[in-house]
Amino acid sequence: MIPLRLDELIRETTTMANKQVEATRDDKFGYTIHTLKERYDLRASIEELNTISWPKFLAQDIVTNDAWDVLFKEWNEYQVVIVDNDGDKLIGVGLTVPIHWDGNINTLPSGWEAATQLGLDDLAAGKRPTALSAFAIMVNPQMQKKGISALILKTILNISRQHGFHSFAVNVRPILKMNYPLIPIETYAYWENGNGEPFDPWMRVHFRAGAKLIGVSPRAVLVKGTVSQWQKWTNMEFPDSGKYVVSGALTPVTIHHEHNVGIYFDPAVWMIHTIGSA
Ligand SMILES: CC(C)(COP(=O)(O)OP(=O)(O)OC[C@H]1O[C@@H](n2cnc3c(N)ncnc32)[C@H](O)[C@@H]1OP(=O)(O)O)[C@@H](O)C(=O)NCCC(=O)NCCS
Repeated sequence: MIPLRLDELIRETTTMANKQVEATRDDKFGYTIHTLKERYDLRASIEELNTISWPKFLAQDIVTNDAWDVLFKEWNEYQVVIVDNDGDKLIGVGLTVPIHWDGNINTLPSGWEAATQLGLDDLAAGKRPTALSAFAIMVNPQMQKKGISALILKTILNISRQHGFHSFAVNVRPILKMNYPLIPIETYAYWENGNGEPFDPWMRVHFRAGAKLIGVSPRAVLVKGTVSQWQKWTNMEFPDSGKYVVSGALTPVTIHHEHNVGIYFDPAVWMIHTIGSA
């Protein structure tokens, strides 16, 4: 993929651009978009961004760790990176997993972790991918709230189109859900902001890019650890068995002292971008 200047990309996607992107695009001139195929050298910066983007307890996910090498090697042409003009500073990344999916919502994997496993299994079985699934979209904290994520999305949609994929299926981790850990995801996912858009800002970015909310994944990722591991990950004490509200967690963590285990399910929502031919 030829590196595109951000201003060129915006021009290229003008017909798809929504008002929010156009309103902030001046802030964004001067960055370059690549795939990981051209910028494998950014691996260390991407790993660093990944470390600071998630609560510690999510970094324990085994499927994610298995996929990491594959993202940088076999799947590098599907990965979006945005860097500054000097090419040194990482602005944001859009990491995706190619999957063989028939487009039927009933056959969607149960969540983000299962979708990643499906991509790994498809690769091992030599199955031709038909869609992309999102692995992680991350923007450098210093560059957040400037519309970068919408540009990452548009670039992923372009890549999907170039490869003839029918969809970009995203198991969205709603960023503000952490403020509402006691509200079921089945309720939170359908909250609106008063303008008929999703209440959650990250779901809103997908909605504005044309994605449809398909359903919820109450158990998108399972995190299981001993009580002392949970203490280390969260800097909290858990004196008794029970449910605990933990910083960065979207639902409570359940601690069972009798089994020396803490269980957490990270919820998400499925939003599907259907790839048109335009
Ligand atoms: C989620 C994320 C990718 C959004 O990237 P971004 O480029 O900052 O998003 P945008 O500038 O397009 O902002 C989109 C909306 O989200 C809001 N927003 C962005 N970051 C936010 C934050 N940390 N807290 C609250 N709102 C936030 C913006 O204000 C904007 O709201 P609006 O619709 O009212 O205008 C970024 O916050 C991030 O990297 N977070 C850590 C990793 C993560 O959670 N990724 C998503 C799951 S894969």
